[in-house]
Amino acid sequence: MSAIAAEDSQPLQWIPQASIIAREAGKRLREFLAQGVETEYKGDVDLVTIADRTVEKLIRERLGTTFPEHGVYGEEGTRERMQGEYRWYVDPLDGTTNFAHGFPHFCVSMGLEHRPPGLKPDEDGSLVAAVLFDPNRDELFTAERGRGATLNGKPIHVSKIPELAESLVATGFPSHKRHDNPNIHFYQEFTLRSHGVRRAGSAALDLAYVACGRLEAFWEFNLNPWDTAAGFLLVEEAGGRCSDYAGGPYKLDSREVLATNGLIHEEMLGFFRDLFAGRNLAPIPTPREFAERRAARAAR
Ligand code: IPD
Ligand code: CA
Ligand code: CA
Repeated sequence: MSAIAAEDSQPLQWIPQASIIAREAGKRLREFLAQGVETEYKGDVDLVTIADRTVEKLIRERLGTTFPEHGVYGEEGTRERMQGEYRWYVDPLDGTTNFAHGFPHFCVSMGLEHRPPGLKPDEDGSLVAAVLFDPNRDELFTAERGRGATLNGKPIHVSKIPELAESLVATGFPSHKRHDNPNIHFYQEFTLRSHGVRRAGSAALDLAYVACGRLEAFWEFNLNPWDTAAGFLLVEEAGGRCSDYAGGPYKLDSREVLATNGLIHEEMLGFFRDLFAGRNLAPIPTPREFAERRAARAAR
């Protein structure tokens, strides 16, 4: 999708007001970060803080005032006006683990879905707007369907790198059901086949970075709609491609997300096929095998 054309004089419908809300939310996160917050556990390492809850409440209230007809579906439990024709997917703090450790890499993520009348509850509508704000770098990523994607008001595009071997890619690991996840194998294989795999701890920012060409690809298992809704539209509007690991369309509740610059998408899908079939895997020495080799080297 091309970036906003100069002659396109139609005003953006949702971004200006939603951006104000995302910036206010980001400012609150920075205040909480400076003051320090206690961490609670939702699961074994699934963290939550007062910042997550307070900022979700702030966003819910601001969206309710600004777009009173719109629904809101938030990570921290908000379910408002779920029958509405429009619905915001809100992650008030994507990167809670980073935040809780003072690691300054997290964001506010808000994606707007249009759900035309007649859509079944389990059917996806169309994502039509995205606002994602990184308060640590003062970076505001936005997109409206058909109008391109921007970073701080300037058009952004996915990168033009055509091969995985020349790519920087990213992934993440869930903070729940950690034992039922094969991603460490994918991490290893994509590390060997690319310039490297980053694991920075904010899926929403990873997607925004694919959109603006800082990364060529991102994949993760078991994300939620609030993690991906905004990032998906940013990637698509910046000219990239999102799918599941078989190349099927991205879905809000998909347990698999692959987002790329489009050019390396088929190549990555091919590797996913190989990996799931157990083909062409590079063996990793077990720690014990490695220790035995190390001891043998030392004994020489
Ligand atoms: C998490 C982050 C992380 C990803 C996890 C998500 P949260 O979201 O996006 O990068 O690996 O799967 O749950 O809990 O910080 O909002
Ligand atoms: Ca999240
Ligand atoms: Ca969150």
